[in-house]
Amino acid sequence: MPPTSRQSEAHRDTGTPPPEQVTVRRYLIDDPVTEITQLLHRAYAPQVEMGLKPLAGRQDDKTTLDRVLNSECFLATIAGEGGRERIVGIILLNEHERVAFPAFFLRPGVSHFAMFGVEPGLQGLGIGRRLLERTEARARELGAQELALSMAEPDTNLRAYYDKRGYRFIEHWQWPYTNYRSCILSKTL
Ligand SMILES: CC(C)(COP(=O)(O)OP(=O)(O)OC[C@H]1O[C@@H](n2cnc3c(N)ncnc32)[C@H](O)[C@@H]1OP(=O)(O)O)[C@@H](O)C(=O)NCCC(=O)NCCS
Repeated sequence: MPPTSRQSEAHRDTGTPPPEQVTVRRYLIDDPVTEITQLLHRAYAPQVEMGLKPLAGRQDDKTTLDRVLNSECFLATIAGEGGRERIVGIILLNEHERVAFPAFFLRPGVSHFAMFGVEPGLQGLGIGRRLLERTEARARELGAQELALSMAEPDTNLRAYYDKRGYRFIEHWQWPYTNYRSCILSKTL
């Protein structure tokens, strides 16, 4: 698909790579966990500035690794300085957690994603779309008919992002480690 004028503008302004130069791949065991934690802290900083306490915005490396290893983790990467691979986005599919799940996540045929974040300077270029498409494709492959997620209810811009992508409201949910109510959304695959 040709880039939109907004995307072309972004590339001209920042010299950032177009989405076609982004690779989406599975997490590998020697991927740098600290880089991922820091990327998540940067991506979730606007929610933290709103007074929210998303886990991904404040978790330590041990928690990042634990979450990555208890899910199917996909990374978006680009060639950084000197050709070195740079991680610019992340998403987790079907994370196992040690806390109670919303009822909808437990239904047969429902997959769910979490810890979705893109490097702030590279947002709005389609990297999130690439990660979501890969996650949706993998959920279908696993036999899911629905792909669900949990998001902070006060983040209305984020809600608009998911509305536009065909996700609908299912139920409210309170995670024990956050200070806000969450919305469970889902999309029929
Ligand atoms: C949600 C998130 C992962 C999306 O990643 P992304 O790479 O920006 O996604 P895309 O480029 O595919 O789409 C971004 C959309 O926002 C629009 N947008 C407009 N201005 C933007 C801006 N300044 N920054 C980012 N996106 C912008 C884009 O045009 C695009 O909309 P459209 O495709 O509907 O036209 C990213 O915004 C993020 O990391 N957010 C913070 C963490 C978070 O809230 N994660 C979700 C938790 S449930």
